[in-house]
Amino acid sequence: MPERVFIEGGVPLRGEVTASGAKNSALPLMAASLLLPGELVLENVPGLRDVMTMRLLLEHLGVRCRGDNGTISLDASSADMWDAPYDLVKTMRASVLVLGPLVARFGHARVSQPGGCAIGARPINRHIKALEAMGAAVWLEHGYVVAQADRLKGAEIVFEAPTVTGTENIMMAAVLADGETTMINAAMEPEVADLAEALNAMGARVEGAGTGEIRVKGVSSLVPTTYSVMPDRIETGTYIAAAGITGGDVTILKCVPDHLKAVIERMEKAGIAVDKGKDWIRARGGGRTSAVDIITDPYPGFPTDMQAQFMALMTLSDGFSTVLETIFEQRFMHVPELCRMGADITLSERRAVIQGVESLSGAQVMATDLRASASLVLAGLGATEGVTEISRIYHLDRGYERLDEKLASLGGRIWRTGG
Ligand code: EPZ
Repeated sequence: MPERVFIEGGVPLRGEVTASGAKNSALPLMAASLLLPGELVLENVPGLRDVMTMRLLLEHLGVRCRGDNGTISLDASSADMWDAPYDLVKTMRASVLVLGPLVARFGHARVSQPGGCAIGARPINRHIKALEAMGAAVWLEHGYVVAQADRLKGAEIVFEAPTVTGTENIMMAAVLADGETTMINAAMEPEVADLAEALNAMGARVEGAGTGEIRVKGVSSLVPTTYSVMPDRIETGTYIAAAGITGGDVTILKCVPDHLKAVIERMEKAGIAVDKGKDWIRARGGGRTSAVDIITDPYPGFPTDMQAQFMALMTLSDGFSTVLETIFEQRFMHVPELCRMGADITLSERRAVIQGVESLSGAQVMATDLRASASLVLAGLGATEGVTEISRIYHLDRGYERLDEKLASLGGRIWRTGG
């Protein structure tokens, strides 16, 4: 029988949990291994399905991958393929992150055009336009994006709107380009800065990462290095929401509070007490949470990857709250599933209105995408009667390392069957 997670809620979570390495930093960092004919060693790599998928893709491209449980060595010295096939890319859109490195290192790339996914069409037109500005010839054939360039040239690139993997793709393409590249309206997410720091450790010359303007001076080659992946800010925010929805007291260790300013501000407004140190956050839920509105925004605004989790928290709040999802066109697949548990949510376009209810009840629900599945886990923890059974749990395992085990270590009644 396919794996399912079961949750019997109503227990205040208590104790300490350690944040894993960030999925959305580990994936571009792994792709960066294609840029150098030598070994890139990554530490604090989270044990996730998406990391395994990226590893399979890199091995297909000829990268020698060794190690596991947190530290992996990636050696692209003998990489000789530049074709990222449909059957791998279709399972993970982040595969598009090999596009820039392949063109930069080999002058060729043939990457299956990532399809849409549950949360939206997710085109890559901005990635392509930027590569063309750097002198690449890019065309589509049989569902593949094909890119060619003898050597990419530095250029000034203005993104019509921020794109996280677009910024990362072009940063990686630019580090080996001829001349200087400036990216205007670049994504400012911490994962972009993490990638820049790793590239600079390999001998690249990237400045301004983490701001909207990034400058890259091309170099002729990079050198091997060892780099530790930054902590996962979305996993951390998910545990803050778990403390809130269960009225518990949870301390998250090895995290970066500064990466969560917008999330912490909304959590405190909802009545969750948040204390923080250099690398830890303590979140304490009180009674019923207060109704709080959120608008998702590129960093440093409220992250779209925390929207579903915050909505779960608001289903039990003391009034009306609204969620405006400005980044993706249909990131509300969790709503009908939450309503099966008794939530009162109405949708119109990109806005959800949540009327807090007295209680949620356990039900059979279905995960539809990564963050939606986290939202269902949170609702299950907050449900005070019955058991919640979540199917298609592979969505959860794409982006959370042992979430059920970590929640159980905090006293949560959560277990997994099947598989
Ligand atoms: C990254 O996706 C993250 N994934 C996503 O996390 C995250 O939700 C997203 O950034 C926004 O923060 C990784 O980093 C691997 P975008 P990405 O390009 O780069 C549109 C998770 O749950 N757009 O910043 O694909 C796009 O359709 C995942 O961990 C274009 O129109 O997101 C979207 O509406 C989900 N054309 C918006 O911009 C383009 O060429 C932002 O997309 C590129 C993007």
